[in-house]
Amino acid sequence: MDIKISPSILAADFLYLADEMKRAEDAGAHMLHCDVMDGVYVPNISFGFNVISRISTITNLPLDVHMMTSCPEKYIDELKKAGAASITIHSDVMPKEKLIETLKYIKSLGMNAAVSLKPKFDAEVAFDYVPYVDMILIMTVEPGFGGQKFMSDMIPKIKKVREYLDQHKSECSIQVDGGIGKDSIEACAKAGADNFVIGTASFGAQNMKEAVQNFIKLAENAR
Ligand code: DX5
Ligand code: ZN
Repeated sequence: MDIKISPSILAADFLYLADEMKRAEDAGAHMLHCDVMDGVYVPNISFGFNVISRISTITNLPLDVHMMTSCPEKYIDELKKAGAASITIHSDVMPKEKLIETLKYIKSLGMNAAVSLKPKFDAEVAFDYVPYVDMILIMTVEPGFGGQKFMSDMIPKIKKVREYLDQHKSECSIQVDGGIGKDSIEACAKAGADNFVIGTASFGAQNMKEAVQNFIKLAENAR
């Protein structure tokens, strides 16, 4: 599976969003990570459909929407309309059966579906969703804020999920999110992650292209 870099818009300069999206595109990013937070599921509020929808008009990159809200199932149609290419739902926001239905619904609208695990959940929690998802997101910080410190104790979880996917001949991707940068990307790639959400270390870089290209190289060489 190819290495993919998904810069997190949360770290972009909101005053110049159009320029920032162009900067990410020119840097060689593969998708754009949109963190939707409602102040209930996580203790922070970010942005919603109108921002995603406006971004979708100025970028060719797929929009990778990470839902950190309660009741995300209510917003799937709206996200599709706003131009989302992929929607990630956290494992603990609804019961398993309902989550599977929601993931199937996302797929039925032609988007990619993903399930996300907060740090406290074991790898096994993701296994039941593998047949229904394109990606598993392993949080490497507590969701809610950019710029936090990478939790290296998540590495065994990445390995466990990768082993499970390989055993089951699954094409499912593993995304990591939180504190990813030059000091953590190699360990994640070595453990089996292939998709890297990078906020502070991408938009925060003086030269975003150099940073993104370096992340791709580090991840590829670490495998
Ligand atoms: C945290 C978000 C992340 C965040 C990553 O809840 O899910 O996507 O923007 O930012 P960095 O890379 O700065 O940790
Ligand atoms: Zn995120």
